[in-house]
Amino acid sequence: MLIHKRSDFPDGFLFGAATSAYQIEGHKFGGAGRAMWDDFAATPGNVVRAEDGALACDHYHRYGADLDLLKDAGFDAYRFSTSWARVMPDGRTVNPEGLDFYDRLTDGMLERGLKPCATLYHWELPSALADQGGWRNRDIAGWFGDFTEAVMERLGDRMYSVATINEFWCVSWLSHFLGHHAPGLRDIRATARAMHHVLLAHGTSIERMRGLGVQNLGAVFNMEWAAPADDSPEAAEAAALYDDIYNHFFVSGAFKGTYPDRLVTALGDHFPEGWQDDMATISAPLDWAGINYYTRSLLATDDGPWPHLRAVEGPLEKTQMGWEIYPKGLHDFLVRAAREYTGDLPIYVTENGMSNADTVADGAVDDAARIAYFNSHLSAVRNAIGKGVPVKGYMAWSLLDNYEWALGYEKRFGMVHVDFETLERIPKASWHAFKQMLAG
Ligand code: FCB
Repeated sequence: MLIHKRSDFPDGFLFGAATSAYQIEGHKFGGAGRAMWDDFAATPGNVVRAEDGALACDHYHRYGADLDLLKDAGFDAYRFSTSWARVMPDGRTVNPEGLDFYDRLTDGMLERGLKPCATLYHWELPSALADQGGWRNRDIAGWFGDFTEAVMERLGDRMYSVATINEFWCVSWLSHFLGHHAPGLRDIRATARAMHHVLLAHGTSIERMRGLGVQNLGAVFNMEWAAPADDSPEAAEAAALYDDIYNHFFVSGAFKGTYPDRLVTALGDHFPEGWQDDMATISAPLDWAGINYYTRSLLATDDGPWPHLRAVEGPLEKTQMGWEIYPKGLHDFLVRAAREYTGDLPIYVTENGMSNADTVADGAVDDAARIAYFNSHLSAVRNAIGKGVPVKGYMAWSLLDNYEWALGYEKRFGMVHVDFETLERIPKASWHAFKQMLAG
C-alpha cells in the first residue's frame, strides 16, 4: 500500500505515468521509418538478445485499453512521446499516418480527462539523419525545429505541456561517450558536439513553439546523485566532475546560458566553433523543468585519460538494474534545482520508478518492492515541497513493462505487467496501490 494520500500534496498536484514511443508503440506499424535504435539493436552485442522495438507492447493498436488503465487508476496526466521516425520516416518528410496516430492518442487522453504531456524526442532519431551525423551535425537544430513544427501544428493547442528533449545526458554522453545507447559511439569529440547540439536543438524547438503559440514548455533532465566513494580529495574531485557532466552541464546551459568551467576547459576544443553565440538560443526562457531520477553513483578516480572516473559499487539495497535505492537524492536535487537554476518555476518529477523481477502468480503480480520504492520517493518529494520547492507533479516510470533499451525486454519497470508473447496486460499491486491512493 502507498502510505501517502492525495491530500498530503498541494492542491492541483498532478499524478501521472510516463512512457515513450519506441519503448511501447511497435515501430513496425503505421509507416514509421527506420530509427537509430533499429540499427543499434541489429548490431551484435549492443542489446540483450538483439531485441528491438518492432512490436514492443503494440500500444499503436492497444492505446485505448492502455489509456483506460491510466484513467481507471485515477491518474491526472499521461507523459508520452512522439517518435521522430514515425512522424518523419526519412527525418524530413511528414508521414500523415504518424501524425494521425498521435492525433487519435491525444483525443483518447482528452476523452478520458487525462492531461496530455508530450515529449517531442525520446530517442527515435531517424536513421536517415543518423547517416548525416545525427547529433554531431549542427544542422540537427533546424531539423528538430522542423519536426517540432510538424507535430505541434497538429497537436499543440491540445497539449497540457510539452517537453523538447528527454534526458540530454543520455542523448549525448551515454550514447556518444560510453556507447551504451544508440548510436553507440565512444568518441570524445562526437560527445562534446552532441552535448552542445542537443541543447541547441532544444532552444530552437522552444523558439519554434513560441512562434506557434504553444503553451507550457519545458524540458526533461535526468539526474543521478554523485557521491565520493571514499574520504579522499581525489574521490571528492571525481564526484564533483561527474556531477558537472551529468547534473549541471545541461541545466546550466538551459537555465543560465553557461557551461561549468571545468567542462569548458576539458571539452572546449571539441565544441563546435562559435558555440558561445548559441547560448542565448539555448537558454530561451522555459515555463517548467522536469527531473528524472532513479539512483546515485559512488565515484573514484582511475588512471585512464580524462575524465579519470571509476564508478564503485555502493552498499545500499539495489533494484533489478543494480541501481542503489537512494530517495534522498531526489529530495536534494529538487531543492538544488530550485535554488540554483529554476527559482519559482514549476518542477515536475517526470520519471521515477524501479525495475523488479516481477512474476505472475494466480493472475496477479505482487511488486511490493516497487510500492516501497514509490513510497520512499514520494516522501522525498513531500519533504522538498515542505521546504518550499514548487514541485507540481510526479510521473511514475512506467505505465507498462516495455523495451528497456540496451536491456531489451528483460527489465520490467511497469505498474502494469505485459506478457511479451500474448501482449496481455495485468495491473500489478503498485497500480492498485496508486488507484487506492488517488481515489482517497
Ligand atoms: C530513463 C529513460 C526511460 C527508461 C528509464 C528506466 O533513463 O528515460 O526511457 O529507460 O530510464
